[in-house]
Amino acid sequence: MNEITQVDLKPSLADAPTRLADLKQSTRSDHQSVDDMVMEMAPFDSRANYARFLRLQYIFHKAMLPLYQAKDLNQLMPGLAARSRYDAVSKDLADLGCAIPAGGSRDEIPQTGISRIGWLYVCEGSSLGAAFLFKAAAGIGLGADFGARHLAAHSDGRGRHWREFVTQVNGLSLDASEEQAVRDGACAAFAFFRNLLTVEAAGNAN
Ligand code: HEM
Repeated sequence: MNEITQVDLKPSLADAPTRLADLKQSTRSDHQSVDDMVMEMAPFDSRANYARFLRLQYIFHKAMLPLYQAKDLNQLMPGLAARSRYDAVSKDLADLGCAIPAGGSRDEIPQTGISRIGWLYVCEGSSLGAAFLFKAAAGIGLGADFGARHLAAHSDGRGRHWREFVTQVNGLSLDASEEQAVRDGACAAFAFFRNLLTVEAAGNAN
């Protein structure tokens, strides 16, 4: 490192967490609660349990589709539309002979504004934890060609595909209020999924 770079690297900036690290930190407990609730469903104990989980995934990915397809977001983040796992999750439902679930109205998800980046963070991040779910799905005979397509790694590699998204999000230039809107969007996305889990658990208890 030369002298000029050292002088330029003020400690406050050099030590600042990346946007993604900040998002991960500020949604840690949100993630833990959805993780716990999903595990309570015991989705990999049987195909019937898995189908309950799959319905929620379908509703989430369907509701997220307009964000993946948004023109302005695709300009900011080239290749975004191709990241949607809606088609994969639809095929998984068909594989298991499940009816298309209702739910996840567009009204619940912002259709404009920078908070959508926070929603996308949650949806994209869920493909990381999916590595564990994918392994567990093999135990009930599901995989990349049947039933668990949406949990499979991307052909580029799960880690590499995620890191491309991370680089894009970290590279966005946002002011403080936009930064907060992204955080709020991520919390709202986790709340959306938590709500799906709560409704599903209540329905199953009846
Ligand atoms: C039983 C269910 C789940 C388990 C066991 C699980 C597990 C994990 C694990 C282990 C990671 C870290 C992976 C890594 O760093 O390599 C992760 C990341 C993540 N998961 Fe989950 N997850 C679950 C469900 C979900 C759901 C339903 C969502 C979204 C609705 C979600 C959103 C995320 C996000 C956003 C990240 C990225 C965190 C980051 O690195 O910034 N997860 N998950």
